[in-house]
Amino acid sequence: MIQIRRAEKEDVAFIAALEKATFSLPESESAFSDMLAKADHILLVATEGDQQLGYIGAYTVCRESDILTIAVLPAARGRGIGSALLSALMQMLKDSGESDAIFLEVRQSNTPARALYTSLDFTEIGVRRGYYQNPKEDAILYKRIL
Ligand code: COA
Repeated sequence: MIQIRRAEKEDVAFIAALEKATFSLPESESAFSDMLAKADHILLVATEGDQQLGYIGAYTVCRESDILTIAVLPAARGRGIGSALLSALMQMLKDSGESDAIFLEVRQSNTPARALYTSLDFTEIGVRRGYYQNPKEDAILYKRIL
């Protein structure tokens, strides 16, 4: 059974390794360690038994939350884990009473991620031209009211 829980320091090596394997400009292991200690950040992991399968990170400022990163192990994709991580994050933010909306940006060509966000009722609100480097690409901005 897939479970979603807050990340602990024992999860940071897994998170940093998957981040590095997934993104061309990854967050560092120390950045993830720092997130654990910050009250305005949430870092969640998805697990099955004692195996970690994915993670999501977000922070909140002025009642608006931003998704920093989300990834699922390639072998575990397509099983609803990304959706479960994002849903759990949204519920947690809603329950906290400290956030009104959630924002994110995604590479224009990232079809799986864009389909995930649309499936959870995120709305496209704009484009940042040439936002990403390595390779250079536009970012599509999404928003969802909590
Ligand atoms: N093609 C089309 N739609 C897809 C898809 C794909 N390959 N993968 C997911 N989706 C959509 C579907 O709508 C799906 O719902 P459905 O299965 O009911 O049709 C919905 O997303 C949820 O899929 P889910 O199984 O929960 O997603 P996942 O566990 O595979 O995780 C990502 C999705 C994006 C987190 C995963 O592909 C990943 O880690 N990608 C690399 C990292 C990344 O791009 N992160 C986003 C950066 S902004």
